[in-house]
Amino acid sequence: MNLVIRTKVLIAEENPQVAKELEKLLNLIDNVDLVNKVGSAQEALDSIAENKPDVALVDLSLPDMDGINLIDSLRKINTITQVIIVSDDKDYNTMLRAIRRGASDFISHDVTFEELNIAVKRASDLAFAEKVKSDPTAFGDDTTQETGEGEGDEGLGKIVTIYSPKGGTGVTSIAINLAISLLDKEATVAVVDSSMQFGDVPIFLNEIARYSIIDLIPRVNDLDNKILEDVLVFHKTSGLHLLNAPPRPELAEKVNGNHLSQILEQMRQMFSYIVVNTSSYISDHCLAALDAGDVIVVVTTQEIIAIRAARAFMELWDGLNMSKERLLLTLNRYDKGKNISPERVSEILKHKVAGTIPLDEERALRAANYGIPFMTADKNALISQSVTSLAELVRRQLAEVAEEERFRLFSAVG
Ligand SMILES: Nc1ncnc2c1ncn2[C@@H]1O[C@H](COP(=O)(O)OP(=O)(O)OP(=O)(O)O)[C@@H](O)[C@H]1O
Ligand SMILES: [Mg+2]
Repeated sequence: MNLVIRTKVLIAEENPQVAKELEKLLNLIDNVDLVNKVGSAQEALDSIAENKPDVALVDLSLPDMDGINLIDSLRKINTITQVIIVSDDKDYNTMLRAIRRGASDFISHDVTFEELNIAVKRASDLAFAEKVKSDPTAFGDDTTQETGEGEGDEGLGKIVTIYSPKGGTGVTSIAINLAISLLDKEATVAVVDSSMQFGDVPIFLNEIARYSIIDLIPRVNDLDNKILEDVLVFHKTSGLHLLNAPPRPELAEKVNGNHLSQILEQMRQMFSYIVVNTSSYISDHCLAALDAGDVIVVVTTQEIIAIRAARAFMELWDGLNMSKERLLLTLNRYDKGKNISPERVSEILKHKVAGTIPLDEERALRAANYGIPFMTADKNALISQSVTSLAELVRRQLAEVAEEERFRLFSAVG
């Protein structure tokens, strides 16, 4: 499929020198058309209404409106134009505010060609996805292709899905720390954030989600390692590769279970382990992540509500005729002082608690505040050691599961 998409770009920058530099760099990017150069937010909004650019490079401090607030006004005009904030303010909170309000990226005044190229390309892909959403027929019928099941996928990377039917039990914390634990000289590891609406993996790693799974959707039927490499974010400190969730909740619906299955299968060719973060709600995405998992770490806690939810999930799993061999039950926030023991939890759930991760508010809080996983900050702490043990269990379980025939939920259903 050879679809050349031209990207219309607007510059909203008060400083003429910076605007000129940005224009120069934009001219070097393939298939980009500069539609206008303006110096204020009001002019930017007028030009966006008139020219409908795919991408707007917007300075954070425009004379009449903060560039981030401009995003809100812009959304009333259209949902397509993607905003890249331009600023030298590297304050983490400002960046986070921009990303949360829907900016697709954050670049500095002295951005390099490479950085700008990547940011524009990503924003252009997001704009493209928005266009497809508003008019699915506009780009031809590239949605009907065979799924192309790969031959003989044994020996490829293993998928480890982390799931809890109750929110807030520690799925994302475990996914990230376990992923770090699975890394070694021989093993490459990726984390896929399938919590499509409110994915927060990058926040746990103090990383900016430059790209997301949304960038793959226009190309999901032509996936190859190169396309994936372009979209995965490499987290230098940990060595993990990240496939982030969509940057805004409303984009979640662009990704369906089949997309996720296709992406995960492709990723098996690239990584030794693919750790999938999920959200508790059993959505299409969640089912795809559960279906794909060679091992599923089911997280629960000693709270009654969490245990009841886990029991309901186990029953559902049984009802779907899925193999319980794949489930590795983990008790997080484990506190010996509480009167529900792991053995009792095993009894209630009719499944052995394979491991416990201790309650450690202080380290968990520190990890969250600084975006440094406890596995990186303090490898010898009890909480980290328990995740190392979990990683060992996962490896062992994978070796056992590899022997067994896996039921595929999707193929079983339809
Ligand atoms: N073992 C632990 N001890 C203490 N606090 C923990 C532990 N594990 C996780 N937490 C804390 O619990 C909170 C929820 O964790 P996390 O976001 O990982 O859960 P989640 O299941 O992914 O939640 P969500 O359903 O919102 O996605 C976080 O503040 C995290 O720091
Ligand atoms: Mg989570």
